[in-house]
Amino acid sequence: MNPDPSRDLSRMPAPLPEIADRGGPLQPLLSATGLRKEFRLGGGFFGPRAVVHAVDDFSLTVIKGETVGIVGESGCGKSTAARLLAGITPADDGEIIFDGETFWTPRSRISGERRRAIQMVFQDSASSLNPRMTLTETLAFGPRAHGVPTATARAYARDLLAAVGLPPARFAERYPIELSGGQRQRVNIARALAIRPRLLILDEPVSALDKSVEAQVLNLLVSLRDQLGLSYVFISHDLNVVRYISDRVVVMYLGQIVEEASAQDIFAAPRHPYTRALFASKPSIDPRQRVTAPPLVGDPPDPVNPPSGCRFRTRCPIVEAICANARPPLSAMPGAGGTHRAACWAALPGNEHSLSPRQKGALQ
Ligand SMILES: Nc1ncnc2c1ncn2[C@@H]1O[C@H](COP(=O)(O)OP(=O)(O)OP(=O)(O)O)[C@@H](O)[C@H]1O
Ligand SMILES: [Mg+2]
Repeated sequence: MNPDPSRDLSRMPAPLPEIADRGGPLQPLLSATGLRKEFRLGGGFFGPRAVVHAVDDFSLTVIKGETVGIVGESGCGKSTAARLLAGITPADDGEIIFDGETFWTPRSRISGERRRAIQMVFQDSASSLNPRMTLTETLAFGPRAHGVPTATARAYARDLLAAVGLPPARFAERYPIELSGGQRQRVNIARALAIRPRLLILDEPVSALDKSVEAQVLNLLVSLRDQLGLSYVFISHDLNVVRYISDRVVVMYLGQIVEEASAQDIFAAPRHPYTRALFASKPSIDPRQRVTAPPLVGDPPDPVNPPSGCRFRTRCPIVEAICANARPPLSAMPGAGGTHRAACWAALPGNEHSLSPRQKGALQ
């Protein structure tokens, strides 16, 4: 909970104009298609020594007001995908549409005012804030860079501090070193909000915090989202945290999306063997919840040489020949109303996997 409801940021005069909504509530806020990113390592005259396939054919839609969680093992490309979505790292290929307008393509990118629509919050680290700037200076920096007069920007910085639960009378002139990890992360969130974005991409925003502080920062994020009508893309290793905050969940494996569904559906009935294994590895908060899949064993394969076909096949308990031969498309699961999608031959109807459901109406 925001400790002081009178410090509702949506009621305070903001120095920068709101980014107008264009297409109405039914037009997706963000729509990314086919994003790909490779990192070239070493090499020389004959080309790179190795190519890391960090993100491959990544497509994501974020509805207005929605929180989409992204989960997956370390190194599966979550942070790279986040940086592509925010336009911080240019993708090799793909397209990002923001509220009906091109935000990024390999040939063009959004400029000017609407550039501030997407902001990122990273895991708290000692280096996330400039140690030589007070909190007021830190929070006034973004608005000033967007042309807001210094005095106005500083006044708004105090409002922002209040809105994230740091009373300005005590905190305005402090330096980052005088803060706890949770307080620093509140400042990082305030800094991202200072230029009035519509989408926050939060990459492990609470992973460095103690459990009790984590809960407070999560509650703050929920309350700010509701006050300001924000959308979030929320990345975390912690499935319980993702389950708590997300409307929809996307599961990544080795640079690709293998499953996506509403948070309720995916936790109730995961369809991809990787998702099942990942969830089985999760420490359950509910002691009655039974583990039905064997947890993950071993490490993911090297993203320099991803396996052919389905990338999970080398660790999959139900692997068959088709899995090596062809990549399963991310497809709507039969009977799930079109919103639950998975990329697994065993879950898709009408193929040679022995577990593939028989197609409706097909003669068998
Ligand atoms: N700048 C870079 N240069 C080379 N390889 C990179 C770079 N950034 C990421 N990678 C590689 O790309 C892959 C995806 O990394 P990424 O950081 O996106 O994963 P992640 O899912 O965020 O992992 P974690 O959960 O540990 O944060 C990894 O194999 C990583 O080593
Ligand atoms: Mg990461």
